[in-house]
This record gives sequence, structure tokens and C-alpha cells, in this order.
Amino acid sequence: MAKQTKTIAFANNKGGSGKTTTCANVGYSLSTLGKKVLLIDGDMQMNLSLSFCPEEQVLEFAAGENNLYHAIRQEEDLTGYVVHTPYENLDLIPSSTLMSGIEYELFAKRQRETILSNGLEKIKENGKYDYILIDAPPTLGGWVTNILCASDFVILPVEASPWGLFGLANMFEFLENVRKIAPSLKLLGVVITKMDARKNYGKQTLEVLGEFEDVTVFDTVIRVDSEIEWAQDNSRPVMVYKKSARSAGEYLALAKEVEKNVRRSR
Ligand SMILES: Nc1ncnc2c1ncn2[C@@H]1O[C@H](COP(=O)(O)OP(=O)(O)OP(=O)(O)O)[C@@H](O)[C@H]1O
Ligand SMILES: [Mg+2]
Repeated sequence: MAKQTKTIAFANNKGGSGKTTTCANVGYSLSTLGKKVLLIDGDMQMNLSLSFCPEEQVLEFAAGENNLYHAIRQEEDLTGYVVHTPYENLDLIPSSTLMSGIEYELFAKRQRETILSNGLEKIKENGKYDYILIDAPPTLGGWVTNILCASDFVILPVEASPWGLFGLANMFEFLENVRKIAPSLKLLGVVITKMDARKNYGKQTLEVLGEFEDVTVFDTVIRVDSEIEWAQDNSRPVMVYKKSARSAGEYLALAKEVEKNVRRSR
């Protein structure tokens, strides 16, 4: 039976807030829950691709034509750009370092906000995937607008640190502006990441988030866990690298909460 595909962007203009790590591990967790998931690497850093594929393979994607940059540049249907990851139920569209020039490419196009959305149309119609998760770069421009216009929901990972909260108002304002073109885009929730219990900054983070109206904060908090970096060094989701890792349980709990919030907002 064809599925109704839900598309979720992971975005925040603050660099290093945990977008890619959350996207990769929530994606993998959803796949273990029996969901069919397509991950899209929207960043020139290619960290989402590196989360699942070894460096040599990622460099091959970047050097060749089988990557998102090429597809967007040619305004192509993205079906032919999907590659399998080593995991069942989990596919990927890799990125390229050339994505650094994507704003320039978009600039010359007509109806430039919806190039990604158009490229995903057939994949969504086809109903193969339950979820499409898109990892956004730490910018706020035409490309992130494209990512948001292609999405039903956005998840905002926020690092539990003073600088993690700086600029958040900008991000919310940007989302409001994108809603003028994509009115159905919903903020699924803010997820607090990289929480260090010793620094006790989690409470202040929640207080600051409470000052924003209509912002759902996920109950699940992702704490600092060094196993995450080891897992990334091995191009594996943390639950594959070390099933007993604390963060493995947290990402699974977050994935279940994501499903719950998606169901609720229907
Ligand atoms: N819970 C965590 N515990 C420890 N380290 C983490 C955790 N989450 C992410 N990291 C590390 O923090 C760094 C930033 O994370 P990540 O790359 O996911 O952020 P990002 O928002 O995607 O960054 P960018 O804005 O550059 O795309 C990475 O080195 C990652 O390994
Ligand atoms: Mg990233």
C-alpha cells in the first residue's frame, strides 16, 4: 500500500547544534521501528553521508554526478539519486562539496524556492517512504528555504549552551518568512542536544525556550555522549556502534516522540 510520506527538515542556523547527528540517529531509529526512511544530505560538509558511508565512498559521490548538487543544478527528479545504506529500510541521497555553490546556482533559476520540492514530487507520490528526513546546513538563505518548502515539518536541534540559544529568535523569524511561501510548514519541536548534566544549563535552556510562544520542546533530551563521536568516526549510527550507549536509547525515545507528534498534528 502506498504510504503518505512525511518530510521533516532538521534546521538551525547555529553551527554544531546537532542537526546532522539528530537527523542520522532519529532516521536510523525510525528504520528499526519498521519505517521506510529516506535521508537527504543537504550540506556541503557531507556529514550525513559520512554517518552511514565510509569516506572513500562519500568522496566518490562528491566527485561524480550521483549527488544532490548535480540533481538540483539540473532540476532533475531525485528518484535516480537514491543510494542504499548498509541498513534495511534506510536510503540516502548524498551531498557534494560543490553544494557550497548552491546559492549561486539557485539564483539564476525561476521559482527557485521549490526546486527541491519539485525534485521530490515523484518519490513522495510513489509512497515508498514513511519519512524523508533532510539535514540542512547552518545557513539561512535560498537553499534552506528550498529545504523547508519541501518539508511538512521542521525539527530544531538546540545545543544546551549560552551560544546555542543566541540567534534563535532569528531562526524563528526566518521560519515565519518561509511560511509565507509554504504555509503548511509546521515546527514539530525543538530538541535540546548535547546537554551536559555537570554544567546544569538545561534548566536555563528550557526557560529561554519557554519565552517563545507556541514552541513545542521534545521531552527527550539528548545528553553529551562521547560514544556518538566514536560511532561517527566509524560511519555508524550510535545504536549500531554501541547498542548500550546512553544516547542510543535517547535517540530511540526521540524517534518515538517524533512519530507521536507527527500523528498528533494530522
Ligand atoms: N549528544 C552529543 N554528545 C556528544 N557530541 C555530540 C552530540 N551531538 C553532536 N555531537 C558532536 O557535536 C558536533 C556537532 O554535531 P552535528 O554535526 O550533529 O551538528 P550540526 O548542527 O549538524 O553542525 P553543522 O551546523 O556544522 O552542520 C559533532 O562533532 C558531533 O559529533
Ligand atoms: Mg550538520
